[in-house]
Amino acid sequence: MNMNCLFIPLAACLLTACGAEKQNASYDVIPKPQVTLLTQDSPFRLQESTVIAYPENDTLLKRNAAFLAGYIKESTGYAPETKATAGDDKPAKAIRLGIDPTIKNREGYRMTVTADGVDLCGQTPNGVFYAIQTLRKSIPATAKEADIMLPAGQVEGEPRFGYRGMHLDVARHFFDMDFVKEYIDLMALHNMNTLHWHLSDDQGWRIEIKKYPRLTEKGSVRQRTVIGRNTGQYDETPHGGFFTQDEAREIVRYAQERYINVIPEIDMPGHMLAALAAYPELGCTGGPYEVCPLWGVFEDVLCIGNDKTMEFLEDVLEEITAIFPSRYIHIGGDEVPRTRWEKCPKCQARIRQEGLTDGNGHSAEDRLQSYCMARMEKFLNSKGRQAIGWDEILEGDVAPNATVMSWRGSAGGIKAAQMGHDVIMVPNNYCYFDYSQSRDPKSEPFEGIGNYVPVEKVYSLEPTAGLDEQQQKHIIGVQANLWTEYISQPWQAEYMVLPRMAALSEVQWLQPEEKDYEDFLHRLEGLARLYDRDGLTYAKHVFAAQTDSVQAR
Ligand code: ACM
Ligand code: ZN
Repeated sequence: MNMNCLFIPLAACLLTACGAEKQNASYDVIPKPQVTLLTQDSPFRLQESTVIAYPENDTLLKRNAAFLAGYIKESTGYAPETKATAGDDKPAKAIRLGIDPTIKNREGYRMTVTADGVDLCGQTPNGVFYAIQTLRKSIPATAKEADIMLPAGQVEGEPRFGYRGMHLDVARHFFDMDFVKEYIDLMALHNMNTLHWHLSDDQGWRIEIKKYPRLTEKGSVRQRTVIGRNTGQYDETPHGGFFTQDEAREIVRYAQERYINVIPEIDMPGHMLAALAAYPELGCTGGPYEVCPLWGVFEDVLCIGNDKTMEFLEDVLEEITAIFPSRYIHIGGDEVPRTRWEKCPKCQARIRQEGLTDGNGHSAEDRLQSYCMARMEKFLNSKGRQAIGWDEILEGDVAPNATVMSWRGSAGGIKAAQMGHDVIMVPNNYCYFDYSQSRDPKSEPFEGIGNYVPVEKVYSLEPTAGLDEQQQKHIIGVQANLWTEYISQPWQAEYMVLPRMAALSEVQWLQPEEKDYEDFLHRLEGLARLYDRDGLTYAKHVFAAQTDSVQAR
C-alpha cells in the first residue's frame, strides 16, 4: 500500500464524519460595544440548522431576522431559517430577537450569548438592528460552511449621538439607484442612521419635480465637464441623470428598512445654475444660463425680489415634502454671492419693502438671504417640518428654528449652539471625505480636491469641544460629506469613504473617554476583511502605516 491510499480516507473524514469546520467570532467590532463581558461558559455554536426567532406579528423584527439571515449567509454561505414564535416561547439553540423596554437608549442594544442561545434585544427595532449589525461584524467575514463559535457573555452598545449622518452629492456627478443603495448599506454596516442627499446644484438637478418638468429635462444634463481642476479644457461629453419621484421613494423605503432617514437637500438660493438654465426667469438677469460645466461658486443665484422665484421654491418644497417623510429638510444656504442682488431692481425693491437694512456687520443683501431662508423655514414649519441650513445662514438674521450644519470648521456650530440652535457638526477639516487621505495628493489613485483628512484626524474629532454642558446638548449629531466634483465612479466614492466612515462611526457612537485610536486600528483589520470580501475599494494608508511601524521596530 502506498501512502496516498492511507491519506485519502483520512481527508474524507475531516470533511464529513468529523463535522463542519469551526471558526471563532470576536466582539472586537466597529463601533466598539460599550460593554463586553465574557464568561467562562461554553460558547454558542451557530450552524446551518440554527433558527433565528422573532415574536409573531412583529413585522419589523421579522424583517430584522431576514437581514440577519442574509448577513450570516454572506459569511458562511448558509442562511439560517427565520421563524415566528408565540408569546413567551423561547426556542432553544436559537438566535432570538426581542424588544426590551429596560434598555435605556432608544437605539441601544444588548446581545446575550450562552450555549443555549443568543438574545438580541433593543428598546426598539432600531436597537435590535444594531445588535444584528454587531453580531454580523463579530462573525469572521469569510467562514464558508463553517460553524461559528460565539463566546459566551454579554455585549451592549448605545450611541452618543441621535444623528449619525453621511452626505452624498449626486449633483456634481450622478450616482445611480444601485450605488445609492450600496451607500445606504455601508451606512447600516457602520451603525449610521441619516443620509443627507444633496439633490441639486449648479452642475445638475437630480430630482423630478412634476410642476417644473424642465428642471430634469434640461437641468439634469450638463453638456460638458471641465477636465481636472478648472483647467479650461472640457471633455465635450454630456453628463446627466436624475431620480424620478418613484425612484426617490424607493430609496426612502430602502433606507427606512435599514433604520436610516433620508434628508433631501435643495440648495438655495445659490448653487442654482441648473434650475436657472431650465427657468431663466428665476434669476436676476434673466440669463441665458448654462448647467454649469465647471466647479466653484457662481454669481448667478436666484432672484429673491421675484415673487415667481419664491413661489417656485415653495412649490419645489411642497413636492419634496410629499416624497420625503423626513422631519428635517435641508435648504442649503451656502456660498451665495450678493453681487447680482446689489444691482437687481427687483431684489432692491424687496429689500425696501421688507425694511431690510445693513447693520451689526451684515449688509441689506445678507438680510435678503435671511429673508429667503426664514420664509422657506416658515413654509416647512407650516407642514410640520424643520429646516436645516449650512452655517452661512448665521450671516444675517438666522431663521428662528433652523438647525445649523457647521461645515466651515466648527466655529459656526459653536456660535449657533450658543445662540440656542441645534447643530450638526460637519467641520470640513475633519469630515470632508472628498479631501485627500494622503499628505501627497498626487500619490492618490485619482485626482481630487487636495487638502488632507487622514483617518486619524477623523477619529480625533470632538464635536462638542468649546461648549459648556448646556450648549453641548444642542450638538445633535455628526456627519461626513462626500462632494463629488472629482469623484465620478462608484469605486472612487468607496475609496474616499472607506475606511474613514469607520473612524466617523466611533465619533458618532462612542463617548470621548471610550475612544482609543490604537485599539480602533486593531479592530479595523476585521472590518477591512469584510470590505475585502464584498469587493469594496478602500484606502489602505492606515494599514500601510502600521506595516511601516512594524518594520521600523
Ligand atoms: C459646502 O461645502 N459648500 C457646504
Ligand atoms: Zn434679483
